[in-house]
Amino acid sequence: MQNESKKSWGRGVIDRYRSHLPVSETTPIVTLGEGSTPLVLAPRLSDRIECRVLIKCEGLNPTGSFKDRGMTVAVSKALERGATALICASTGNTSASAAAYAARAGIRCAVILPAGKIASGKMVQAIAHGAQIVSIKGNFDDALRIVREFGDQDEFAIVNSINPDRIAGQKTAAFETIDELGDAPNIHILPLGNAGNLTAYAAGYSEYKKLGKSGGLPRMIGIQAEHAAPIFHRRVIEKPETIASAIRIGNPASWELAQRAIDESGGAVEIVTDREILEAQSWLAQTEGIFVEPASAAPIAGLFKFAREKRRDLIPKDATVVCTCTGHGLKDPEIVSAKFSETAPVAPNIQAVREAITRS
Ligand code: F0G
Repeated sequence: MQNESKKSWGRGVIDRYRSHLPVSETTPIVTLGEGSTPLVLAPRLSDRIECRVLIKCEGLNPTGSFKDRGMTVAVSKALERGATALICASTGNTSASAAAYAARAGIRCAVILPAGKIASGKMVQAIAHGAQIVSIKGNFDDALRIVREFGDQDEFAIVNSINPDRIAGQKTAAFETIDELGDAPNIHILPLGNAGNLTAYAAGYSEYKKLGKSGGLPRMIGIQAEHAAPIFHRRVIEKPETIASAIRIGNPASWELAQRAIDESGGAVEIVTDREILEAQSWLAQTEGIFVEPASAAPIAGLFKFAREKRRDLIPKDATVVCTCTGHGLKDPEIVSAKFSETAPVAPNIQAVREAITRS
């Protein structure tokens, strides 16, 4: 079995980008074959924005979100340090990923979640992987505060993005983007929640540039939901609210790092409404065939807003724009199924079915 794990199947980001990551020959690698996600050209979106827009489909990671890139590094390092349990606060995706990687590593995992605010697909994942689930009467920011206190006691390894191993792993998405495009894009746009992912992309782009693997650095643009937009408004939001539950965060942990990366790149933070998010989600699914969760549709809504407002200062015509769609649409099925009401069943023959199709 030992030799089996040395073969190249199921290669994850540590195997592919080892020299860029804080691992050694003796680090026990916990991987589910994460990374290598498709960078897909979105032709209709490109037409609408008058740019070349590519979507980095992070929903195709093993647990359906970008979190797996960081989790493989964080859990491998935690094992190396002798941890026997993981803990995280989460709006859902981190807990799904932590639960899966803990199962793979054979250690316990406790997830602290805001009660009633986790999309059902993510909750199902935590249950399926056997995590210990604690719901609190509070929001994500409260959950993260509690988790930080646990960290002081050395009992659990924290696998939120305040753990630098998570950020290190997430840098690999920027490496993949450059490896595939042959250079950095002009613009990188993504949703902004706890702000770890934007920080990680910026670090990855800058690392590759220093190595001469790209000519420039992309402008980093983060999109927040209107009522959960602390970075946009430059103040803590005590009671953040948005349908995009993944980014329902009022006091992001990597706020300063992300702000610096945005400023240094000549980028921006923009807000979009819940309605714009849902419209963008539906447009992307029905026009490009890419189904993402609401938070992941925020940058698409942002692009539409920039196009509407003719913000050519920010998104010049014909620029190469990479948009990270962070999580799969199936994570949050209720958002979409709520729009659908099943009609009464028809007789089991072709005429009845044809009539029903024509009617709908
Ligand atoms: N998109 C999705 C689907 C997410 O799950 C998150 C964060 C983000 C975007 C924002 O990324 O926090 O690095 O700025 N989800 C975390 C979680 C907070 O607990 O799953 P960020």
